[in-house]
Amino acid sequence: MQRNYAKKKKPKIFITFLLLILIYSCSFNIFNWINNSPQEIITSNRTLGFDHIYVLHLDYRKDRREIMDKQISYFNLDVEYFEAVSKDDKILNKFTNANSKMTAGQRACYVSHYLIYQSIIEKGFNNALILEDDVDFETNITDIMADIYQNLPEPWDTLHIGHCYEMIGQPVGSSSFPNKLYQSVKPQCTHAYAVSNSGAHKLLKLIDPIKPIIPVDYKISLIIRSKKIISYSIHPQPIIQWKEGNPSDVELTSNYPFSLTNSTMNLLGLIDNNLSYNNSRKRIQRILDLTSHFQRHFRKQVLS
Ligand SMILES: *[C@@H]1O[C@H](CO)[C@@H](O)[C@H](O)[C@H]1NC(C)=O
Ligand SMILES: *[C@@H]1O[C@H](CO)[C@@H](O)[C@H](O)[C@H]1NC(C)=O
Ligand SMILES: *[C@@H]1O[C@H](CO)[C@@H](O)[C@H](O)[C@H]1NC(C)=O
Ligand SMILES: *[C@@H]1O[C@H](CO)[C@@H](O)[C@H](O)[C@H]1NC(C)=O
Ligand SMILES: *[C@@H]1O[C@H](CO)[C@@H](O)[C@H](O)[C@H]1NC(C)=O
Repeated sequence: MQRNYAKKKKPKIFITFLLLILIYSCSFNIFNWINNSPQEIITSNRTLGFDHIYVLHLDYRKDRREIMDKQISYFNLDVEYFEAVSKDDKILNKFTNANSKMTAGQRACYVSHYLIYQSIIEKGFNNALILEDDVDFETNITDIMADIYQNLPEPWDTLHIGHCYEMIGQPVGSSSFPNKLYQSVKPQCTHAYAVSNSGAHKLLKLIDPIKPIIPVDYKISLIIRSKKIISYSIHPQPIIQWKEGNPSDVELTSNYPFSLTNSTMNLLGLIDNNLSYNNSRKRIQRILDLTSHFQRHFRKQVLS
């Protein structure tokens, strides 16, 4: 009985499926048609001039979401929170090799960015801004991006609005404002960068999701150094990362100050001085740990 029932049901499901595909592809064409209308030329301020904004976000980080939401509503931005792959996600082992030397967090980050490039292509965006959920903006980020867009040459693959360990490359354009455009040299950190459609295609080919051996931002910086993609960076960076951990030790090594002229988080009263005090303590501890680690390592080498 059940079998028969299932057999009868199948063609119906199949037809529904076909219909859905048809409707989907039609609406897609209509969207494309709208996108190609003259409106396209006007840069949308709700997405800082890009086709789309993704905010990579881990659902359980409600604290970061709260801070991000306040800034987003201050700028009246239109963003998509993109569920980041977490360290414990099963998809991780499907994509990456658990034996790799990278931490689960680094592998999760790698796969998250990979999935966003896929999404850019699937949804047919010309470009998209990718933000991590712990960023702080210059209060006039809209003006800054409008000016950068005036100077940004076509075609481009990636645009590094926020970065770390970056150096100053060849100047590009002729901006009279402080935040200027340069050819990228070796930007790392992925808290605020844009990827064009062509960039997404290239990166999907160039980064290996199955056996990543180095963190995704380092991989991208190597790709840029080898001139396989066309990349630009903004100095000084108008979007910075405030989180505890990774980029913190950057302050000491970066050529450029890792701070904003007018911080939006500061303007909105979102900076807890005690918290940043704790973070700076963590930061110093981390550097001390690293230093002693290297000292031990070198001592071993010298002695052996
Ligand atoms: C976007 O913002 C910039 C800077 O504030 C402004 O010059 C431009 O006219 C705005 N564009 C649109 C489409 O609103
Ligand atoms: C943004 O604000 C800073 C600080 O007030 C200012 O120096 C800069 O000229 C502004 N940038 C633009 C593009 O308006
Ligand atoms: C930045 O802050 C300075 C000093 O508080 C203020 O004079 C200036 O207008 C601010 N600029 C922007 C773009 O908000
Ligand atoms: C920050 O620290 C100071 C001194 O330790 C304390 O008086 C103050 O209440 C703290 N503020 C918050 C928001 O925790
Ligand atoms: C800062 O660190 C102290 C001691 O570790 C802790 O008691 C306090 O709650 C922390 N403050 C914040 C804002 O995280």
